[in-house]
Amino acid sequence: MDLTLLLCALLLTAFCCRRSAGVPGEEEVIPEILEFQVGDNAHLSCDSSLPTDNRSNVDWFFKHKDQLIPIFRVRQGQGQPDPGDYQHRLTLLGGANLSLAHVTPRDERIFICQVKAIGSHTQEKHIQLRIYKAPKEPTIQASTSGISVTSKVLQEVATCNGEDGYPLPHITWYKNRTPLKEEKNRIRFTESRTKESSGLYTVRSTLWAQLDKEDKEALFYCELSYRLPGGDHMKESKEVNVTIYYPMEKVWLEVMPNRLLKEGDKVELKCLSDGNPPPDFTIRKQDPSSHDWLEVENTSDAVLVLEQANRHHSGLYECLGLDFETGMEAIDQQQLLVNYVSNVQVQPRAPVTFEGNSLKLNCSAESSQPVVFQWKREKTGEVLKNGSVLHLTNLTREAGGGYLCVASVPKVPGLKHTQLVNVTINGSPWVMAKERHMWVKENEVVNLTCEISGKPRPTISWSVNGTVYEHDKDFQSILSTLKVQVIPELLEKGVVCQASNSLGSNKTTILLELVNLTTPTVTTTENTTSSHGTTTNSPSAKANGTSTGDQVKKAGTRQESKGVVIVAVIVCILLLAVLGAVLYFLYKKGKMPCGRSGKQEITLPLARKNEIVVEVKSDKLPEEMGLLQGSNGDKRSPRDQGEKYIDLRH
Ligand SMILES: *[C@@H]1O[C@H](CO)[C@@H](O)[C@H](O)[C@H]1NC(C)=O
Ligand SMILES: *[C@@H]1O[C@H](CO)[C@@H](O)[C@H](O)[C@H]1NC(C)=O
Ligand SMILES: *[C@@H]1O[C@H](CO)[C@@H](O)[C@H](O)[C@H]1NC(C)=O
Ligand SMILES: *[C@@H]1O[C@H](CO)[C@@H](O)[C@H](O)[C@H]1NC(C)=O
Ligand SMILES: *[C@@H]1O[C@H](CO)[C@@H](O)[C@H](O)[C@H]1NC(C)=O
Ligand SMILES: *[C@@H]1O[C@H](CO)[C@@H](O)[C@H](O)[C@H]1NC(C)=O
Ligand SMILES: *[C@@H]1O[C@H](CO)[C@@H](O)[C@H](O)[C@H]1NC(C)=O
Ligand SMILES: *[C@@H]1O[C@H](CO)[C@@H](O)[C@H](O)[C@H]1NC(C)=O
Ligand SMILES: *[C@@H]1O[C@H](CO)[C@@H](O)[C@H](O)[C@H]1NC(C)=O
Ligand SMILES: *[C@@H]1O[C@H](CO)[C@@H](O)[C@H](O)[C@H]1NC(C)=O
Ligand SMILES: *[C@@H]1O[C@H](CO)[C@@H](O)[C@H](O)[C@H]1NC(C)=O
Ligand SMILES: *[C@@H]1O[C@H](CO)[C@@H](O)[C@H](O)[C@H]1NC(C)=O
Repeated sequence: MDLTLLLCALLLTAFCCRRSAGVPGEEEVIPEILEFQVGDNAHLSCDSSLPTDNRSNVDWFFKHKDQLIPIFRVRQGQGQPDPGDYQHRLTLLGGANLSLAHVTPRDERIFICQVKAIGSHTQEKHIQLRIYKAPKEPTIQASTSGISVTSKVLQEVATCNGEDGYPLPHITWYKNRTPLKEEKNRIRFTESRTKESSGLYTVRSTLWAQLDKEDKEALFYCELSYRLPGGDHMKESKEVNVTIYYPMEKVWLEVMPNRLLKEGDKVELKCLSDGNPPPDFTIRKQDPSSHDWLEVENTSDAVLVLEQANRHHSGLYECLGLDFETGMEAIDQQQLLVNYVSNVQVQPRAPVTFEGNSLKLNCSAESSQPVVFQWKREKTGEVLKNGSVLHLTNLTREAGGGYLCVASVPKVPGLKHTQLVNVTINGSPWVMAKERHMWVKENEVVNLTCEISGKPRPTISWSVNGTVYEHDKDFQSILSTLKVQVIPELLEKGVVCQASNSLGSNKTTILLELVNLTTPTVTTTENTTSSHGTTTNSPSAKANGTSTGDQVKKAGTRQESKGVVIVAVIVCILLLAVLGAVLYFLYKKGKMPCGRSGKQEITLPLARKNEIVVEVKSDKLPEEMGLLQGSNGDKRSPRDQGEKYIDLRH
């Protein structure tokens, strides 16, 4: 490297020597080039080879045009500035070397140092100063008006500014990181330069171009290149984009959501185009009968929103785009299909039949798509059949009630409709239980219930006056509730719930039994209003089999006591008859002396103080008591240890 430089220097010297030899009297000196940045202190040195002792005269000049302007002189080692621009900025450093303070672009000139030594030739050294200043960060401004691709003339894209540089910085434009070059009718740059009082330059370049639609995402920037001592440098501006206007070529009509639609869906029809700005859109629908196109109202921003689409929204839609700038028109059409299932019907509509009969239910529906049918039981949701026809054979009472026909479209998830049909099985009223027992307290207000099924709907009447509520438990059965106060009469007779319709009648008898709440074995939380099922849940049942006769008696076994009393009375009468016969027999035989005190106890009137104790064995299990009531059962149980004592007083 050094060798090459040396060679170059030699060659240059040779060339210059040849030239100076060719032009006699004018000595051509090759200037030394020194580079500084604005503001630096420049060191101007005379060549060290020149003898610069006290006896030499040194003169410094600068070259202006072809003149040499003296600026500094050195005599006997003493330096002295000449008046002028440089008077205050030059300092003698030593020998003939000078320092020039705070260089500016104006100092970019040739300085000459002349040394006249006694007895020798005048020798010169030329110094060319080069001054540099980096420009500020470049600024860029994109065109705000936007660029139309249809324009025939070049349009302003952006302007770049590079301030305060020296020498003049160079601006290069880039699009998407690729440098731009001027191209006829495509790309042009215009540049303006300003020289400020400080000598620095400001450069401003504008990019003009013809852009395409593809440039809509292009990024532009500019680069400032400049030199500083020691090398080249550059600075880049930010990247900017510009709005590109391009005409529409086509439009689309988009349907959202993009799947099979069903009634109730929210559907959006949207016009889109490839133009910028978008054209004027019109959404139209074809009238199915007249085939005329009718403008759709309620569109905003080229979107038609059907909040709850229905089958009437189906049809052919079109989107019409009109570009006023170019007069261009474009159309796109879409068929909208809103699927539906409706008018699900069952034949017969309200089937009525009798027990043991068969029934055929036929389901049909209207739909835009193939439908599948399914039959379900309303009460349980149990699937009975896949298919439109349901065959019910050997109908029972329980088969009466609701059946559901579900019509669905498998292709369109969620699209289904259901029809309920009530199957009536005619029959005389049925009661849930012929006879029931209820445990009550005296004077308490209780609800007595009675559940009846039967068609036609039976009328229900109660044997006692009270408040009656009636409600349909399901299609086939009715629940009637009687709210009544427990009075002794009810305890005796019980309450009868009577139901009848055209096909017959039926009844339930509710027997009311007193509960002695003070009995420890009776749970006071007993639900006295509960209907069937609690009949076996009697207080005596709680007393297990080990209950004493006393406890059983307390359990309100009124009816049984009556039976026992009757038996006791009969036994009494029989005993009286036997006694009478014996007395008569004795009297006839004369064995019995009337008025004898010895037989006092027998002849005393029975009604007085005689107590005849009749022992009756209780022969019923407490659990059976409810079942055996009224039947006057005589079953004996070996388990039974309870005994009843009944007082027979006269
Ligand atoms: C130059 O002159 C100065 C004073 O005039 C003296 O001090 C100095 O020694 C001289 N130098 C030479 C090399 O003669
Ligand atoms: C003048 O400057 C040159 C180059 O910087 C240097 O070599 C020389 O020694 C200087 N002379 C004096 C007397 O300082
Ligand atoms: C420039 O690009 C940004 C981000 O990509 C975008 O938000 C902006 O709208 C664009 N400006 C123009 C004029 O295209
Ligand atoms: C347009 O919207 C209004 C109010 O939202 C509504 O009353 C009218 O029926 C709509 N017209 C059409 C054609 O949908
Ligand atoms: C109808 O049902 C009854 C009772 O469930 C049964 O005894 C009878 O066999 C059934 N008849 C037919 C034809 O299924
Ligand atoms: C009354 O209801 C019962 C069911 O509790 C039923 O067995 C009976 O057949 C019914 N009587 C009439 C006459 O329907
Ligand atoms: C009886 O039934 C009626 C209506 O269902 C209800 O308001 C009332 O509280 C019930 N009475 C009793 C004691 O359960
Ligand atoms: C029920 O009330 C009616 C009218 O209020 C009355 O004629 C009838 O005697 C009452 N029956 C009973 C059992 O109290
Ligand atoms: C079926 O019966 C129910 C009452 O159980 C009633 O609410 C419903 O309206 C009936 N439906 C038809 C279709 O008759
Ligand atoms: C309940 O039984 C107790 C004895 O256990 C008796 O003293 C009381 O009189 C009874 N009450 C009724 C209402 O029978
Ligand atoms: C009584 O029975 C009714 C219905 O059967 C129930 O709602 C209620 O909670 C029961 N009360 C008690 C105390 O068990
Ligand atoms: C009643 O019987 C149950 C189970 O059989 C037993 O746990 C309970 O102790 C018995 N109660 C009495 C009072 O004997």
